[in-house]
Amino acid sequence: MREKLVAGNWKMNGGLAQNKALLEAVVAGMAGVQGMGCAVCVPYPYLFQAQSSLKDSAIAWGAQNLSQHDKGAFTGEVSAAMLLDFGCKYVLVGHSERRAIYGEDDATVALKFEAAQKAGLTPILCVGESLEERESGVTEAVVARQLDAVTGKFGVAALSKAVVAYEPVWAIGTGKTASPEQAQAVHAFIRGKIATQSKAVADGLVIQYGGSVKGSNAAELFGMPDIDGGLIGGASLDAQEFLAICHAAK
Ligand code: G3P
Repeated sequence: MREKLVAGNWKMNGGLAQNKALLEAVVAGMAGVQGMGCAVCVPYPYLFQAQSSLKDSAIAWGAQNLSQHDKGAFTGEVSAAMLLDFGCKYVLVGHSERRAIYGEDDATVALKFEAAQKAGLTPILCVGESLEERESGVTEAVVARQLDAVTGKFGVAALSKAVVAYEPVWAIGTGKTASPEQAQAVHAFIRGKIATQSKAVADGLVIQYGGSVKGSNAAELFGMPDIDGGLIGGASLDAQEFLAICHAAK
């Protein structure tokens, strides 16, 4: 049976003092919790602080991006090996903000996915449609294309050491959460698509939902059969809200 995973994506937020309070509260609130995974993906400058604060807890940490390159003349970039230096377990790849704001296309996302896995990191592959794409009825085609960019290059087995996060772009940061039924439909589509290539990989694949998850809606979302936890943005910056979401995944 798949263990649910709740990961916080702090995005470009934080500060040493506020991080200390947040991380201490999350560690305290998650003490003794078993049967689910919890992680925080923090901005690069805070990876040492996350490692120091979380290393003796069951909470994992990771980054929100990485370079597809191993090393070299890529000013400003951060490699998978550098993330490993700070004990990262996870790394987000293909977040819709990377795709939309920084122009990361499917091919680039696939290369980042590969760089992460080659280093031993667990990539969280973010997929999801825009409001226009949903209203045009092409949600499944968009998500399929984003998945195929990875499985077509590396095979479906690559997903056995990865997480997929379905994040409808129109629900990110908007307060407009997808309904549990809407989210379940896409999660079931993702799992069904992977199952046509490997039922074992599909059955074991953790598929997170992301997009305005709050303590008040987490339990209903996580109660759906193909929703295996969440990728949490804004609510991950509030300890009590994030803990409420994590506890809903137990
Ligand atoms: O990666 C998670 C993020 O995109 C969701 O953001 O603020 O809607 O929870 P938010």
